[in-house]
Amino acid sequence: VTPKIMLSNPVSLVSNEMNTLAKNIMALIGSGHPTLNRVTSYYFEAEGKKVRPLLVLLLSRALAEIPLERRDHLKLDSEDVPEDPVYSKPPHMLLLEQPVRSFSPLHVLHGIKPLNPLTKGPEPLPQATFDHERGILPKQRRLAEIVEMIHTASLLHDDVIDYSDTRRGRPSGNVAFTNKMAVLGGDFLLGRATVSISRLRNPEVVELMSNSIANLVEGEFMQLKNTAVDNDLTTIQHGTKEIPPVSGKLDNKIHDYHVPTDQVQNVSHDQLIETAFEYYLHKTYLKTAALISKSSRAAAILSGADKSVVDQCYDFGKNLGVCFQLVDDMLDFTVAAKDLGKPAGADLELGIATAPVLYAWKEDPSLGPLIQRNFSQSGDVERTAAAVAKFDGVKRTKELAVQYRDKALQNLRNALPDSDARSALEFLTNSILTRRK
Ligand code: FPP
Ligand code: MG
Ligand code: MG
Repeated sequence: VTPKIMLSNPVSLVSNEMNTLAKNIMALIGSGHPTLNRVTSYYFEAEGKKVRPLLVLLLSRALAEIPLERRDHLKLDSEDVPEDPVYSKPPHMLLLEQPVRSFSPLHVLHGIKPLNPLTKGPEPLPQATFDHERGILPKQRRLAEIVEMIHTASLLHDDVIDYSDTRRGRPSGNVAFTNKMAVLGGDFLLGRATVSISRLRNPEVVELMSNSIANLVEGEFMQLKNTAVDNDLTTIQHGTKEIPPVSGKLDNKIHDYHVPTDQVQNVSHDQLIETAFEYYLHKTYLKTAALISKSSRAAAILSGADKSVVDQCYDFGKNLGVCFQLVDDMLDFTVAAKDLGKPAGADLELGIATAPVLYAWKEDPSLGPLIQRNFSQSGDVERTAAAVAKFDGVKRTKELAVQYRDKALQNLRNALPDSDARSALEFLTNSILTRRK
């Protein structure tokens, strides 16, 4: 029996791959345009947490411990891509009777209805054979690069959407290069990520990773709100910055509304809270967990692992991803901007009600109208923050995160034989809860 290394740093097992990650990505994103190169490489220059590629690499390493005879390395034809459970059971949401108009915050809500199921992607193509060897496969290393490229593209876009001015302790891409370049830079990264995905030559993986991109956008869309920030035609003050007005009159029909209000008739407060949580967790899955769960599943598929292992890896990524975002939403309340390296307290300022607020609202129904008006009136942000403190919103969010963490740990034990790589994954999963940035 080989003694188990006590892993104080889970990166050590895959440090070679992690050290060459940024350099390898640079080789995938070079263009003939020097300024475009500056924009697309900008976020890779500053040290990010790189949680997503780390997970893919450690998972690949742990999957390599499964004996080859238990891996389906002769498989020639891809099975049908399993339907994402998220699509088969869409969340409920409150329907608006009237289309939302920019200056009419009062609309008649008439109850809770399920969201229409989303459509599945195209059918998979026949699968090619793939190499098998012990350790991390080249395709898995490439997958780690792809996942970081997709994540970075989404951050470039996210900082435009969130009016952020810092990321990783320096000016965010939108501030350093303008909104337009940040958006185009993100698009370019996505384009190159897509080329790299297709070069994995595994149709199930192509479908998974393509869907993960679509999921990010869906999640972000669910979070878009009819806030003053988004729709106001006048210049508004956001932190230290002036946000210029949106040009033109908005006439968007938004049929869903995730934070129910006292205008909803015949719906109990408990039902409202349940609906709001259902919507919030669905949004969280799409915006954060989908990329992690789909890349975890993809790593398992590339290893040739059997269906039960592949499914457990999928669930692992999903549970870990939701845990990760719950902690992110907590840190927005508890950690200062200088420690986060990005704006703190941003969610309330942006009008977004996350889990800590939903827990406070559960205890104090009078927060409903504040949530509905996206904390846009003076004193709303302070009153909500005080209610979050009074009703232990942060602590209860952490308890929820612990539940997801425990499920993720169980998935690891179900999927993988005991190994240093699995221990490192367990360590990493635990450390998500105690992270401070
Ligand atoms: C960070 O969330 C943002 C995301 C997890 C996803 C953002 C997705 C988009 C902008 C859709 C476009 C996607 C692509 C692939 C181009 P946050 O704002 O809560 O976290 P933060 O505090 O780090 O800004
Ligand atoms: Mg943001
Ligand atoms: Mg955001």
